Amino acid sequence: MCSPVPYNSTMKVTFLLYGFCLFSANALDSKDAVITISSQSNNYHYLLAENLKNDILKQARDFDQVVPIVHVSHIDFPHVGGWAILPLIPYLRKLHHGNCSWFFFMEDKTRIRLKKLIEVLGKYDYNKEIWLGHAIQDREATIIHHFAFFEDPSAFKYPNAASGFAISAALMERLENRWKARKPSTSDFSIDYAHELALFIWDNNKGPTLKHDPSFCVNEESSCASFPVPFKLCYTSVPKSSIYFAVKTYEKFHKDRVTVVKNTWGKHAEFINFFSNVEDKSVPTISVGVPNTEQGHCEKTLAILKHVGEDLRKFPSIKWIVLADDDTILSVTRIQELLSCYDNNSLIAIGERYGYNIYNKNGYNYITGGGGIVFTSALLRQLISSKICKCPTISSPDDMFLGVCLNRLKVDITHSSLFHQARPMDYAPEYLENQPVVSFHKHWMIDPVSIYIKWFADADASIRSLQHSEL
Ligand SMILES: *[C@@H]1O[C@H](CO)[C@@H](O)[C@H](O)[C@H]1NC(C)=O
Ligand SMILES: *[C@@H]1O[C@H](CO)[C@@H](O)[C@H](O)[C@H]1NC(C)=O
Repeated sequence: MCSPVPYNSTMKVTFLLYGFCLFSANALDSKDAVITISSQSNNYHYLLAENLKNDILKQARDFDQVVPIVHVSHIDFPHVGGWAILPLIPYLRKLHHGNCSWFFFMEDKTRIRLKKLIEVLGKYDYNKEIWLGHAIQDREATIIHHFAFFEDPSAFKYPNAASGFAISAALMERLENRWKARKPSTSDFSIDYAHELALFIWDNNKGPTLKHDPSFCVNEESSCASFPVPFKLCYTSVPKSSIYFAVKTYEKFHKDRVTVVKNTWGKHAEFINFFSNVEDKSVPTISVGVPNTEQGHCEKTLAILKHVGEDLRKFPSIKWIVLADDDTILSVTRIQELLSCYDNNSLIAIGERYGYNIYNKNGYNYITGGGGIVFTSALLRQLISSKICKCPTISSPDDMFLGVCLNRLKVDITHSSLFHQARPMDYAPEYLENQPVVSFHKHWMIDPVSIYIKWFADADASIRSLQHSEL
């Protein structure tokens, strides 16, 4: 039996209810696996995780009366870097005393068939250092993986995290030891946790590589033990009149990048403004009165948000602000759909989460700017009126600074994997499959108009025809 070492009071309750993790001599059953759902404090995501947990417990009761331990990560382990998994390992090991056979990790969009999952895990020896998942590979060296393995990026396998993955008890023990012994680093960026975890486990060939098992699926099929489900609209799409797009640009890009925005997704936006260092009537742009900086743009971005704040007074229908770069490629319709799941009166910021130094005390999460950042109008008002959100320097990185600022305002950012800081070819195809992607970023060695047409044009056009036929 695992001895209960509660992490906090919530944990204690969980433990009394389901705190057993016995080794069965032969076949595994559900209580041999500890399941951790990567969850978020935002209401919509919290609900997804809670429903998922209840579903797993129900499945367990339906087939063998024993319930597995299911952790909802942001409640059970409120660690700023919990989403990156590694910081959870010592807590999980402490709670379960190295005495459970398997640790299974999943996202709030992952679904599992518990009985099948237990069968699959039972085929492998948890006393060996192994981990299992749906293995994916990069097709080319990519910035989101720090251009790792640039000679042959496809040689390295990492899990499609939304398919779920399992780590054996033996491997967890090794990982805990290495994690505790690691040298603290002070400038760590966390981007794609699945890849970063795989690198840590692989440990320059001293540790195991991911073992691919086809029961961990990318698409739902009857043979799957786990698979991701695509995003579902929550009620109806939010109206276009409730979204304000603020595009950050600079005089050098008014001709090319801004033209692309205007010819693609910009056409579908009801409120859109281009903010630049100079006024250019041909776009038109609004000058924010802040000189351009090579990198950073902290002052410029805050000036944009202040200007938007003024506009909000004139247009009370606006509930959402999307801050985008002039080389962000996105779908207005997909954003309208996505936002149907979020409360427009709460303090919310949504986008692709990156982490800075999240393994240390002073770390924080932020939303990476290139993929677009969505704020509720309520949060934007707080941001611009708050005294604690002043740029350290004019050229501090704006998206990181917004992360610091939200952290000070005690607002958790909300991660959505539908936003992307990089180009489609920077992600493994499986990662993008079957999901209504919201954005990509950068006009580097690609034709942005083709990317828009391939990924977003149909979505943006279909809602239009829908609206026309409704009239
Ligand atoms: C694991 O469980 C077994 C059987 O209940 C027990 O004998 C052993 O001491 C436990 N090991 C740890 C590390 O808790
Ligand atoms: C804002 O949210 C409320 C409550 O969910 C909803 O009734 C309303 O239609 C939303 N407003 C907009 C503009 O989406």
